[in-house]
Amino acid sequence: MAATASPLRVLELYSGVGGMHYALKESGVAAEVVAAVDVNTTANQIYRHNFPATPLWSKTIEGVTLDEFDMLECDVVLMSPPCQPFTRIGLQGDVSDNRAKSFLYILDLLPRLNKLPRFILLENVRGFETSSARDVLLTTLRDCGYGFQEFLLSPTSLGIPNSRLRYFLLAKSPPTSFSFPTSSEILERFPESSGPSQPCEVGSDGVTDTPSTENSRDGSVLFKMETAHELQRKRRQDGDETVMKIQDFLEVPEEEMERYLLPPKTLLRYAMLLDIVQPSSRRSVCFTKGYGHYVEGTGSVLQSCLDSELQDVFQSLDLQTEDEKLRRLTGLKLRYFTPREIANLMGFPDHFTFPDVVSVKQRYRVLGNSLNVHVVAQLIRLLVS
Ligand SMILES: C[S@@+](CC[C@H](N)C(=O)[O-])C[C@H]1O[C@@H](n2cnc3c(N)ncnc32)[C@H](O)[C@@H]1O
Ligand SMILES: *[C@@H]1O[C@H](CO)[C@@H](O)[C@H](O)[C@H]1NC(C)=O
Repeated sequence: MAATASPLRVLELYSGVGGMHYALKESGVAAEVVAAVDVNTTANQIYRHNFPATPLWSKTIEGVTLDEFDMLECDVVLMSPPCQPFTRIGLQGDVSDNRAKSFLYILDLLPRLNKLPRFILLENVRGFETSSARDVLLTTLRDCGYGFQEFLLSPTSLGIPNSRLRYFLLAKSPPTSFSFPTSSEILERFPESSGPSQPCEVGSDGVTDTPSTENSRDGSVLFKMETAHELQRKRRQDGDETVMKIQDFLEVPEEEMERYLLPPKTLLRYAMLLDIVQPSSRRSVCFTKGYGHYVEGTGSVLQSCLDSELQDVFQSLDLQTEDEKLRRLTGLKLRYFTPREIANLMGFPDHFTFPDVVSVKQRYRVLGNSLNVHVVAQLIRLLVS
């Protein structure tokens, strides 16, 4: 690619709060987002607040015509279609799901464009790789002559103490080919040449190693609802010095954190289900859109008072009176990560901000829908180099 080439023209579909746009900036690739498309007014308000100069089309993707796409003459398409139809827990309706319509619409338009985009990056949840939507995607790409590579990657492979295992696809149209050896297998780590990387353990996301009867038989539950196996994994993660500590992502000074403390009711009811981390931890579980509202499986909480040991607090906790339980648990000062801290863990730059009118709950929701900026920046470099 000539150094003097004009900036790549980028189309950002399902733009949300602009995770892709930040990744593009971070990648250092000379590019301009010529259009971002999203139908959600809350997300759009945040996008516009941070990217006032970017044309943002507040409409459904199915509402964009072939002509309009042609007029953009884009070189790059970045997209993260809505996850629900592809999540493994959800009904496996997949392509028959209404929410997949817009994605199928794009795949239908692609071969009919005047000029094929040279580069495509797609992000989705884990499980997309076994969906029929993915089959349609790959068939379309093959028919259009694209070369492509699929990945399953988590930010932990870049030394970020947050698990967020996601499916990614990079596609490139000839005559250009990838700068790394491609494979028909889904890669679970970044290719060698692409900077800091280490084996990305699928298991470290807690996705593949949910407690099985196997575990609980030999591993016996130690404290909380944890098996020995899970505890071991957490210890191993906390001992991995290639990963940064949670404390590097926290807001300082620790003021006005009262509002983020878990209320007594939640403590009593869900203590056993919480994933608790300390500032010195080198791990946290994936933050999802229900964070701060629902407790189970939506993201880690932070132990902000370190005067007592977690182990002591949870030692035969279920045998204690309600008062004693609460006394022990409140002593830990367990709090939610703030939206800003989650944004930090997800790689959003300091200058990313929310308009004041956006509630805390909405902030958690949009971030839970977004992506890790550093992971995508690395992928964009791989795609365009
Ligand atoms: C998984 S989120 C993508 C988030 C984005 N990558 C970010 O960084 O925030 C999916 C987004 O697609 C939008 N969306 C879903 N269906 C849509 C459609 N048919 N047309 C336009 N936008 C749609 C949702 O409003 C949501 O913001
Ligand atoms: C937009 O997204 C927010 C945050 O995810 C959600 O709370 C809201 O219901 C959505 N609004 C519409 C109109 O879909």
